[in-house]
This record gives sequence, structure tokens and C-alpha cells, in this order.
Amino acid sequence: MTIDEIKKQLGWAGLQYIRPFTIVGVGTGSTVSHFMDALATSKHQIKGAISSSEMSSIKLKSLDIPLFNLNDVSSVDIYIDSADEINSQMQMIKGGGGALTREKIIAAVAKKFICIVDSSKKVEILGTFPLPIEVIPMARSWVTKEMLRLGGIPEYRKGITTDNGNIILDVKNLRISNPIELEETINNIPGVVTVGLFARRSADIALIGSQYGIQTVIKKT
Ligand code: A5P
Repeated sequence: MTIDEIKKQLGWAGLQYIRPFTIVGVGTGSTVSHFMDALATSKHQIKGAISSSEMSSIKLKSLDIPLFNLNDVSSVDIYIDSADEINSQMQMIKGGGGALTREKIIAAVAKKFICIVDSSKKVEILGTFPLPIEVIPMARSWVTKEMLRLGGIPEYRKGITTDNGNIILDVKNLRISNPIELEETINNIPGVVTVGLFARRSADIALIGSQYGIQTVIKKT
């Protein structure tokens, strides 16, 4: 089975968590793209979707799935998204696709976060995947220095402006042994909009796909 076939299975597996008459938060990326195809088959049963990126909005519109503005809904029942890395505490690195800020907002609002990932994303310690940080453009050099001070090696993601008009730094060389602490530390750097560490708000359920099938992991409470 190819990685894309595994991602497709994961996307369709996400559908089992969708309840009628609900608002569904939709992430960004190639795995979620399959979920959107699956969701389109149930579009008449749900109220609609909240999108985490312009890219996902384009696809949701093309599938005729009603789109809502987060400010106009009282709650989001479920958020389905993928990740770049996930650990056993269901903490994640996200933002490889550059959509981390809206993803983090929807994850915070949603009652349940289902993460759909292929097994290559499973790690013991987060940080092999460069940590994306969305930064206000004028703070690029300052945040770069602060990340160097924290032991990271930041790299400016060239040619990318986020949906919110900002830039992204991808920080290598981090071995993230305390994700909640690092998330707070980076959040406190002026100029940082969002760090792609989803530690405080981790996933509730992970569907982990491989050629052997899909494993469902439920967060211990
Ligand atoms: C998007 O910004 C990311 O957070 C994605 O969730 C992540 O990059 C996973 O993408 P794929 O599904 O394309 O692997």
C-alpha cells in the first residue's frame, strides 16, 4: 500500500466520528484532503464545516460543503486534522502545510480533536520534524535570534506568506522533552503568532494508519 492509499483510508475512517447536524472542523493537508472527499458523501447530514485554511476552504467549496465562520457558531463538535509528528501523549507538531494558526484556533474550540496520521508520524520525542512558527514579518530577525538562544536552528520558509499575512520559521535541532514548557516559552516571544507545538491542546483520539490497518488510540485521562 502506498502512503497516499494509507492516507485515503485514514480520511475515510475519520467519517465514523461525524454525527448528524453538527459543525465539523476541517484541518489542512493531504490526509485531510481525503477526509474532505469522504465528508462530501455526508454533506446533507451535517450542518457544515469550519475550515482551517484557504486551501481547505477552496476544496470544501468545490465539494459543496457549507462553510461557516467560526465567529458565527456557538460550538464546534469535532475537529479532524493530521499532524507532522505525534507522541504517545498525543502531543503534536503541526504546520508543515503552513496553516498552524487557524488549525490551533479550531483545535482549541473543538470539543473533540481526532488526529489522522500515518504511522511514519509517530515519534517518541517531538522535534525531528522542524518546528514551524508563524511570525509577524517585522519580528523575523528577533524571533530567529530567540530561537537560536533556545538551541534551535531556525530557517526562514522562503516564498511563503501565511493565510494571515505572516512568515514561517522552521526550527531544526530541537529535542522537545517538555512540549508544554517549550510551547509556553515560544508563545511568550513577542512577534510569535503561533508555534506549531500542539502540547497543551493535544489530540483526544489518534487514528494511526499503516499497511497493517488503522490503530485507534484514545488519550488517557
Ligand atoms: C498543515 O499545516 C499541517 O499541520 C498538517 O496537518 C500536516 O502537515 C500533515 O500534512 P499531511 O496530511 O499532508 O501529511
